[in-house]
Amino acid sequence: MQALPIEHDISLQHFNTFGIGARARRYLRVIDPAQLAALAADPELAALPRLVLGGGSNLLITRAEIEQLVLHMALMGKEIVGETPDAVLVRARAGENWHGFVQWTLEQGLGGLENMSLIPGTVGASPIQNIGAYGAEVKDVFHSLTAFDFATGSTRTMDAAACRFAYRDSVFKHEDGRSLAVLDVTFALPKAWAPNLRYAELARELDGVTGPSPRQVAEAVIAIRRRKLPDPAEIGNAGSFFKNPVVPGEHCARLLEQWPNLVHHLQADGSEKLAAGWLIDQCGWKGRSLGRAGVYPKQALVLVNNGGASGEEVLALARAIQADVQERFGVLLEPEPVMI
Ligand code: EPU
Repeated sequence: MQALPIEHDISLQHFNTFGIGARARRYLRVIDPAQLAALAADPELAALPRLVLGGGSNLLITRAEIEQLVLHMALMGKEIVGETPDAVLVRARAGENWHGFVQWTLEQGLGGLENMSLIPGTVGASPIQNIGAYGAEVKDVFHSLTAFDFATGSTRTMDAAACRFAYRDSVFKHEDGRSLAVLDVTFALPKAWAPNLRYAELARELDGVTGPSPRQVAEAVIAIRRRKLPDPAEIGNAGSFFKNPVVPGEHCARLLEQWPNLVHHLQADGSEKLAAGWLIDQCGWKGRSLGRAGVYPKQALVLVNNGGASGEEVLALARAIQADVQERFGVLLEPEPVMI
């Protein structure tokens, strides 16, 4: 194997959807898993802290210079790999654009991913935070993935249990998953497809369409997202900036006495998931700015870079919002993106 083509002092501005202009001291574009094996086998390189980067759509960089070795996953390829009695198995490598992959499955006549159309990012990043939208989550159609483990220098196959999926969470966001880099993901798409219209807004969008096809559901999702969410190509953002907080039932009941319009969803264990966007909106933050960072006027859950904002500015805005929501509702909002 040739020496690894590690580059130096690379701008990451176009590699994170917030458009933060940080620079990487060392950067490797990973186009072949063998590069990771070579890296792990080199004592000097293997000792460096790493930052595995996908589409950079769930990331807030708060430093001007990134000390870690940035591994930009650019492994490409997608194919139908087999079937089970109930499902068709499709696999994509980590660097594939998520939305492009979803549209490709629809072109193959396969439904199952349509509710997650237009989510920014890559296939490799999709299991990291168990992406989801409009009543669907990656874990619902996940079959398995291959990951490279820097701790052992080898690849391993992981099923859903090994990934420990939860709401916007997985093993990859925790200490015991930090040595892993996702190489490819396999999805099991149902042969007997039925539309998932549990999310009221999506059902409304398809009102009047009888027996919608996967493609029609995808188009409805795309239409809703275009109306509500900023396109990262135009306005820097990382989708929802905060997770929807889950609070004990009693806490929610107390809040409802004072705010009867509070948006809440009962969970299986009796706790309540609150709409963070509603909480932020009530605090008057929607459409407001702090420095060059702002709250998107059409959706309070999305923080945006109004042009040239640093990661620290976005963080300062996030902290101000957290403080207000905490003071008013006694709820701590947890950021969704990974902070670097
Ligand atoms: N709301 C407001 N004001 C706002 C925003 C929302 O009052 O400014 C209220 C809405 O009226 C609604 C409730 O809050 O009653 C929930 O809002 P919405 O339906 O827009 O969904 P969300 O909770 O804001 C979640 C996901 C999104 C996903 C949508 C659709 C999280 C953190 N976010 O948003 O995911 O697209 O549902 O399923 O779970 C992402 O993770 O980046 C993301 C965009």
